Amino acid sequence: MIIVVGSINMDVCLNVDKIPVPGETVMAEKVSKNCGGKGANQAVAAARLGAEVIMLGCVGEDENGDSLLHSLEMSGVKTEYVMKVPVASSSAYICISKKGDNSIVVDSSANRFVTVDYIEKNKFLFADAKYCILQMEIPVETIKCVIKLCRTYNVKIIFNPSPLSEFDVRLIQGVDYLIPNEIELSEIMGKKSDSLCDYDCIKFLKENEIGTLVVTLGSLGCKIFDNVNETVFIKTKEREAIDTTGAGDTFLGAFVTAISERKPIEYAANFANIASGIEVMRPGAQRSMPTREEVEYEYNENFS
Ligand code: RIB
Ligand code: NA
Repeated sequence: MIIVVGSINMDVCLNVDKIPVPGETVMAEKVSKNCGGKGANQAVAAARLGAEVIMLGCVGEDENGDSLLHSLEMSGVKTEYVMKVPVASSSAYICISKKGDNSIVVDSSANRFVTVDYIEKNKFLFADAKYCILQMEIPVETIKCVIKLCRTYNVKIIFNPSPLSEFDVRLIQGVDYLIPNEIELSEIMGKKSDSLCDYDCIKFLKENEIGTLVVTLGSLGCKIFDNVNETVFIKTKEREAIDTTGAGDTFLGAFVTAISERKPIEYAANFANIASGIEVMRPGAQRSMPTREEVEYEYNENFS
């Protein structure tokens, strides 16, 4: 069983010709609401691919909260421990360009109620869990508490350091899997992203006692670093991206699903590349995530 502790957001998506720079005003061509939030997205991605997933997070007592819970449930995520709180559900305001890339501002609201207290109340769940997925849209004290619990109950930690505000490298020391994108990793390592080399990554992995480092590289695929293989580059197929919102989350959910089935790491990376590749060709985060059949179909076409 996989526990996801994290954010649940309603995404307000603005399709624009180009993402505005500071001082610029642009017109939206289309506005839509879609279920998102990094935590919820990762939970949905994994559950749609067949994993048993429990979500820990908060939604508001409002219409968005009901839609967000519904979206999780429809994908098979267990939501009975999600707490409804007397504030608005969290929102994310997302500009999506013609090329499919985006910029996001999150209004945390209900996500702030994912507190240490709330985790303590639900800590019995960790006794049966094998994996726990964390990102950074909830209070950092909560993240620290979850990491401690995972160590107590011997639950493997998958840490997605996103978004990177308030980051302290001690937070990720000793995690089993660290899955950042290139920009996040370069910020964590204090380097420019174009100067990141494999040697630095391996050094970083060893110094911080990270089990496996998986760096997502967008349309290029991903790179895996661990103490056994050192470095493996897993390429992905080119796609016509229309909306990359949630692509990283899909990668993560798919990767953990495969790992939790004890699949080899290269299989997990290819499986995750395909899942996120399908996701970027459709609009929205959760609603665009693929099913197991879709991913396996492509996998078999390409690898067997
Ligand atoms: O990773 C994508 C997600 O980031 C969006 O769904 C948005 O809610 C923000 O949390
Ligand atoms: Na998408």
